[in-house]
Amino acid sequence: MTTTLLRPVRQLAAATLIGPRRQAVAPHAEPVTDAAAPRASIALEDVSKVYPNGRRALADVDLVVPDGDFVFIVGRSGAGKSTLIRLLIRDELATSGRVLVAGRDLRRLSRREIPRLRRQVGIVFQDFKLLPHKTVRDNVAFALEVTGTPGRQIRPAVERVLALVGLTGAADQYPNQLSGGEQQRTAIARALVHEPRVVIADEPTGNLDPLISWEIIQLLLRINELGTTVLMATHNADVVTALRRRVVALEDGRVVRDEIGGYHREY
Ligand SMILES: Nc1ncnc2c1ncn2[C@@H]1O[C@H](COP(=O)(O)OP(=O)(O)OP(=O)(O)O)[C@@H](O)[C@H]1O
Ligand SMILES: [Mg+2]
Repeated sequence: MTTTLLRPVRQLAAATLIGPRRQAVAPHAEPVTDAAAPRASIALEDVSKVYPNGRRALADVDLVVPDGDFVFIVGRSGAGKSTLIRLLIRDELATSGRVLVAGRDLRRLSRREIPRLRRQVGIVFQDFKLLPHKTVRDNVAFALEVTGTPGRQIRPAVERVLALVGLTGAADQYPNQLSGGEQQRTAIARALVHEPRVVIADEPTGNLDPLISWEIIQLLLRINELGTTVLMATHNADVVTALRRRVVALEDGRVVRDEIGGYHREY
């Protein structure tokens, strides 16, 4: 996707999902020259990961995900998809090579800078990871509270993302009162509430039936249309095949394919 194509999307994002903070900075942060190349949300340069037990989970991975991209990560069980995601959220450090997210080299990030990274990257897991004793609204609000967002900004930000994911009517429910799809929508709202540059999802439809999986995918596509980069690991061959987006395939920790569309049956 070119920068020219992205720009109206970003403007739309500034006007809707992406709230006042980004609206205020966008004209200065985004140069208006169309010659500018899209920036990379994610870049891995010759990345390998060997776990302490000696298991090599990633080997010589090169991957660039420009701002605004939508990328599927596929590969059979054990191929390294979750390891790649753990590196991107700095849950683990690469054994060698460089991992850059939102322009930051994760190895060089000081402890103080980690909260800032976490605000730029929204994360969604297969098992939702909601706090059971908090309502939908409070689960989403908590993500802002822990990063020290001023109280008066929290309520409007939470209401905005709940509307985006279609959960305004369920705001006072607890997770055990929700369907799986609604729980995942809550997790997506929580991932979005910081207005991140990139949303990373590790098998977000893994616990959902096919129809609800499609609803979640449609939501992630809409978020992407609004300007947020999306990287999603999945085993869902139907979705990947139907959508004809960029597909990065891992095999034994190596990138064996990186192209638009398709899905290898054996994954
Ligand atoms: N903490 C760990 N310590 C040692 N080995 C690990 C660890 N986590 C993962 N591995 C190994 O690294 C390899 C890649 O695992 P990973 O979880 O990244 O695969 P995956 O593609 O996400 O698989 P799945 O589709 O089953 O989720 C596997 O061989 C796994 O056993
Ligand atoms: Mg995994």
